[in-house]
Amino acid sequence: MKFPARCLTLFLLCAAPVVPAMAQPEPAASNLNVEQLFASTCGFCHSDGGRVAGKGPQLMNTKRSDDFIRNRIKHGKEGAMPAFGSTFSDADIDKIIHYIRTLKPDQP
Ligand code: HEC
Repeated sequence: MKFPARCLTLFLLCAAPVVPAMAQPEPAASNLNVEQLFASTCGFCHSDGGRVAGKGPQLMNTKRSDDFIRNRIKHGKEGAMPAFGSTFSDADIDKIIHYIRTLKPDQP
């Protein structure tokens, strides 16, 4: 019965460093810089960080649901907005939605 005990020891030795890494609060956290994204990619159409309408509609104070926004970013709209489904992870899109929800008018 020596063998199983040794296996267990090995397992504990190997698994121990892995467990804390997996227990991090936000493992899928997004590193996306949304402000920068809006200054470049999205801002081409959603002006002033999404505060005012440009080629695309104003996003600040949107009445759209999270699902609608997620869907529009992922799938875009034919002839209007490109699809970004393969560009962003779900965590990225969560972050974009949060950004849109917390947009405030520019300070004078
Ligand atoms: C080429 C121009 C263009 C780019 C680039 C663009 N959008 Fe759009 N976006 C649009 C247009 C046009 C609409 C309106 C589509 C429609 O008619 O429903 C829209 C709609 C949206 C909506 C839904 C708003 C609403 O009230 O219907 C969201 C959210 C959105 N865009 C987010 C983004 C984000 C985030 C990015 C950058 C990753 C982005 N867009 C990049 C043109 C663009």
